[in-house]
Amino acid sequence: MRMILLGAPGAGKGTQCKRIVARYGLQHLSSGDILRSQRAAGTELGKKAGSFMDSGALVPDKIIVEMMISEIEKAPEAGFILDGFPRTVNQAIELDKSLAQCGQDIDIILNLQINDQIVAERMTGRRSCPKCGAVYHIKNLKPKVDGICDNDGTSLIQRPDDSLDVVTNRLKTYHQQTKPVEQCYGNNRAIYNIDANGSADEVSTLIFEQLDVLAKA
Ligand code: AP5
Repeated sequence: MRMILLGAPGAGKGTQCKRIVARYGLQHLSSGDILRSQRAAGTELGKKAGSFMDSGALVPDKIIVEMMISEIEKAPEAGFILDGFPRTVNQAIELDKSLAQCGQDIDIILNLQINDQIVAERMTGRRSCPKCGAVYHIKNLKPKVDGICDNDGTSLIQRPDDSLDVVTNRLKTYHQQTKPVEQCYGNNRAIYNIDANGSADEVSTLIFEQLDVLAKA
């Protein structure tokens, strides 16, 4: 199964992808997570991406497309779920071209729909584990011990791009450059919209109901 999870920053893509992966055994390919690990490792790619990420702008298409296509090529037979990619119409076109070269296509596109106000609250309250990548929220998804990862006891951090001013820029970037991707896909494929304003469990239920229907079709 080759799947894309679209949605605004903070819509819950990462949270839901982890649950989809646990249920369907796909590889989770998050462009944001890959970029952050490149930055942490101090690679050339990470250095090039850093200033764009910190300001809430998109990293140039050429860098992202090369990075993600190379990850997709390594994905297992079971398939993958793309999180944060494609994020521009040009990235979507390049992804289609690359898959078509191997006789492949995207099977399912889900779109998490959420209000901007809820996005701001989710992102400014997000805390992440720098070691295992687990994601929490100071109100909605608390760790058992405040500020500490349940999985490995590491101190949680706030992403530098989760400050209110950068979040505002990320939302602006999303509306200008990423929303058109929905229309681009909607022209020749089915996109399944999911109401992502509810709790993480409510959103998972909606996603699994939709995926189970599609799996039986
Ligand atoms: P990236 O890391 O992809 O960030 P994003 O898309 O902005 O998405 P987030 O990771 O912020 O949010 P999410 O939707 O995964 O939400 P989460 O599940 O964590 O990208 C970062 C940067 O990298 C970009 O700004 C750009 O510079 C660059 N980049 C990445 N991809 C690129 C591309 N393709 N092209 C160019 N540049 C690219 O949830 C958020 C919070 O809410 C958490 O605290 C969570 O616990 C909580 N939460 C989740 N769901 C719920 C719920 N239902 N109810 C209550 N709380 C919830």
